[in-house]
Amino acid sequence: MNIAVAGGTGTVGHYVVGIARDRGHQVTSLSRSEGLDLVTGHGLNRALEGVETVIDVANIRTAAEKPAVEFFTATTNNLLRAEKAAGVMHHLALSIVGIDKAATGYYAGKLAQEHAVSRGVIPWTILRATQFHEFVPQVLERTSMGPLALVPRMITQPVAAREVARALMDAAEAGPQGRAADLGGPRMEQLTDLARAYAGRRQRNKLVLGVVVPGRLFKAMRSGALVPEPGAAVGRQTFQEWLEAEA
Ligand SMILES: NC(=O)c1ccc[n+]([C@@H]2O[C@H](COP(=O)([O-])OP(=O)(O)OC[C@H]3O[C@@H](n4cnc5c(N)ncnc54)[C@H](OP(=O)(O)O)[C@@H]3O)[C@@H](O)[C@H]2O)c1
Repeated sequence: MNIAVAGGTGTVGHYVVGIARDRGHQVTSLSRSEGLDLVTGHGLNRALEGVETVIDVANIRTAAEKPAVEFFTATTNNLLRAEKAAGVMHHLALSIVGIDKAATGYYAGKLAQEHAVSRGVIPWTILRATQFHEFVPQVLERTSMGPLALVPRMITQPVAAREVARALMDAAEAGPQGRAADLGGPRMEQLTDLARAYAGRRQRNKLVLGVVVPGRLFKAMRSGALVPEPGAAVGRQTFQEWLEAEA
């Protein structure tokens, strides 16, 4: 299959590209560092010539609603427009478990993306996954002030980005299916415990403090809004196993 991966250099995107090539597919990665900006869409028509399936794992790293909504709306609409012109047969987007229960900030952007995909003319699949194991060092980086990290209290069921990439490729090979089964990791965890475990391995002098962040979004995240419902697909690698493998 001829596949384009939007965001193919990212955390999950680079696994998608690697797995797709290992399975014998022809793959093009689309990212700014490879000369293509999905927000403007310049050059996209040409980049999608001959492509059958687009896997969208592009991302903006922000917690704010406006830039997230603008990014996911612009990138998705540009992709769908170019896909129509190129005759693409399947648009596959990666989303996040539980976003409708916490539909503000960044998650409002993901919901806007889902709406654009499901209302679009290209046959689609949306796969929702939980936070990646790789999310933990990202949170530590964002919340650190010198030796202190103020990590929001939140329940998560993290999954390996590599396993998410495998599920995306399985879905790409299966063809359009609408909403796929949600994918979560094998264990429900407190984000602060994971951050302490990571810091204990990698950043010995970091003190991780759990903080209760006010507001509807964080209340929902503390009460488990982002963990999958029964019946979801379950990944194998635990956070601890990932941490040991990474070390
Ligand atoms: N992180 C998580 O825990 C998690 C969990 C579930 C689902 N997801 C979803 O998974 C997707 C990927 O997340 P990620 O954490 O793997 O992302 P990431 O590591 O931040 O990578 C983002 C990718 O998007 C590309 N990109 C960003 N802006 C672009 C633009 N204007 N034009 C073209 N390419 C652009 C980046 O490359 P350049 O910078 O070179 O452009 C990079 O390849 C997102 O939709 C996210 O919502 C994430």
